[in-house]
Amino acid sequence: MKATAKAHTNIALIKYWGKRNEELILPTNSSLSITLDLFYTETTVEFDERLTTDIFYLNGEEKGTDETAKVSRFLNHVRKLTGDTRFAIVSSQNHVPTAAGFASSASGYAALAAASSKALGLELDGKELSKLARRGSGSACRSIYGGFVEWKKGVKEDGSDSYAVPILDQKAWNLSILSVMIESKQKKILSREGMKRTVQTSPFYDGWLKATEQELRIAKKAIEKRDFEMLGETLEKNAFKMHATTLGADPPFFYWQPATLEIIDCVQHLRSQGLLAYVTIDAGPNVKVICQPDDERKVFQTLNEIDSVKEIFVCHPGPGISYL
Ligand code: ADP
Ligand code: DP6
Ligand code: CO
Repeated sequence: MKATAKAHTNIALIKYWGKRNEELILPTNSSLSITLDLFYTETTVEFDERLTTDIFYLNGEEKGTDETAKVSRFLNHVRKLTGDTRFAIVSSQNHVPTAAGFASSASGYAALAAASSKALGLELDGKELSKLARRGSGSACRSIYGGFVEWKKGVKEDGSDSYAVPILDQKAWNLSILSVMIESKQKKILSREGMKRTVQTSPFYDGWLKATEQELRIAKKAIEKRDFEMLGETLEKNAFKMHATTLGADPPFFYWQPATLEIIDCVQHLRSQGLLAYVTIDAGPNVKVICQPDDERKVFQTLNEIDSVKEIFVCHPGPGISYL
């Protein structure tokens, strides 16, 4: 009745931005990510018939009704799969900043899906686990696997064909992903809220959808050919387009801060000197800089000189889910 799982976060190279079904968490577009070695969540779930409600601890602290209700809603999906009615104690440690644009929802719900299903004796394969994790947070469905991962959006209304598939092993292509922290505070507009407002109100959203399909094809081709320049150019364009959609929303919003632009500028300057480094940004102000391992030191040192940079985490492709 008790199990512990570990899941790593992932960074999207081609972003998931928008849902076609909010209840089932079905995306409007397919996306592509790299699972990261450095950031992860460890979650223990224990079902117990003596409990009268679910209890959720995050980083050693018991969470209030809102956060616990989200976890309960997720556990209901798992309980439904087995017919079990017991409540659970969930205890989770984030080795990643929570709700700060470092994808804690990805590692958090992937770990919760693995631990809770295992605790109830379900032996889910990768596909089923990915679909379950998706119900917690879309990006979590990609964290089931290590390395390069594609979340196929699927076409079915019931979501049965919307899950992640591994496209390249963790060890097959080593890249450096420098997670540049300028701000570790929680974001103002959660990803869920931000993408919903964008889908509903931004006239730029159609342009995003059209471009992203094409960019996904190019990114996959680049990965197949191990063409770093082609991949880098594509992922940077895709991230900028995603952020551009938020400016067209009503009310408009954006995740960037002055330091975000300083880092983008610095990376573009490095590129003008012939060094291949590219940026991507999730729903927050922090920037992830992607380069080849040979350039990692130079990129690190250059970024480290910027005053507004608080910390740089040097990541590489990481593993999929594991049980402890
Ligand atoms: P992030 O950029 O960190 O993914 P999101 O806004 O997508 O930010 O998601 C943050 C939310 O994910 C948190 O408010 C919380 O509800 C949920 N979350 C984060 N970590 C965990 C965890 N370890 N277990 C369960 N839920 C988590
Ligand atoms: C910008 O997976 O956090 O990071 O499905 O509503 O929980 P929900 O959102 P979430 O969104 C991630 C958005 C993104 C891009 C990405 O990771 O693909
Ligand atoms: Co998230």
